[in-house]
Amino acid sequence: MAFLEISHVSKGYGPPEQRAEVLADLNLAIEEGEFVAIVGYSGAGKTTLMSLLAGLVAPDCGTVKLAGREMQGPGPDRGLVFQNYSLLPWLTVFENVKLAVDQVFADRPEAERIAHTEKFIGMVNLTRARDQRPAELSGGMRQRVSVARTLAMRPKVLLLDEPLSALDALTRATLQDEIARIWQESRTTVVLVTNDPDEAILLADRVVPLTRGPNATLAPGIPIPLARPRDRRLINENPEFKQLRNQVVESLLSAGVKPKTTLTRDLILPDIEPEDISKPWSYFNRRGPLRKGEKREESVEVAP
Ligand SMILES: Nc1ncnc2c1ncn2[C@@H]1O[C@H](COP(=O)(O)OP(=O)(O)O)[C@@H](O)[C@H]1O
Ligand SMILES: [Mg+2]
Repeated sequence: MAFLEISHVSKGYGPPEQRAEVLADLNLAIEEGEFVAIVGYSGAGKTTLMSLLAGLVAPDCGTVKLAGREMQGPGPDRGLVFQNYSLLPWLTVFENVKLAVDQVFADRPEAERIAHTEKFIGMVNLTRARDQRPAELSGGMRQRVSVARTLAMRPKVLLLDEPLSALDALTRATLQDEIARIWQESRTTVVLVTNDPDEAILLADRVVPLTRGPNATLAPGIPIPLARPRDRRLINENPEFKQLRNQVVESLLSAGVKPKTTLTRDLILPDIEPEDISKPWSYFNRRGPLRKGEKREESVEVAP
């Protein structure tokens, strides 16, 4: 029996007459300690899927089970990290994490709760920023606080909803490595949602593409057999990595119907005849370069 299991789950929003079907017939079984990455287009329903896993929304049909039990609302066994940090601005790094620790471990002595909080702040390399408030931190540091706060609650499942999407490329790479390291140390079950196939392959044991919505569904998972720890510099050169990336991208492109539209645009085509340089300079100034415009209709695929 899988640790986290979604069976025949569908979810839509709105009243029946103007209902938007978002997710249709999702099936996914995740083993304990597994790191699964879900890759999908923006607007496909990734956050909706995470909210279902967190128990924040209920499916229209189907079931979501954790350790064999059907989910009834949110709980501290599932820790969710969002894209937008969601820290309390008037609390320091330490206080933001401690607040969560106090809620989950209310029965433990204060000294133990402080030590626990400090351990997780150290795990994300923020000990030196312990007494700073979110406004004084960079985006990457804020996201580390979010990760520390969630990990400190010791969830059975860590749900990461595009936690790195708002960060610049360098910070993103650093935090990816940190997530990989923390996962190797803690072996918590992780579900990471991302729109970046490379991030998914670098971090996960298995990548599951979510097809384009409406009625988005999960494509068959792609196992990532690359040895750990994975070095991002070496991995880019690795033919196996390239082949896995193609597989993920192919799966995302082939699934679902791509909408088509017709565009009419003015194309300036290069003039292949040489300019007549015997003409006076004023001729060119008046006419501009001797190029002919052409109107052309073409059918192109557009993202929704
Ligand atoms: N609470 C809601 N009420 C109505 N529509 C929603 C709600 N949440 C999300 N949606 C719609 O569901 C679709 C999927 O949204 P979301 O799950 O946020 O996608 P993603 O995270 O992949 O970008 C979008 O079209 C969005 O507008
Ligand atoms: Mg989202």
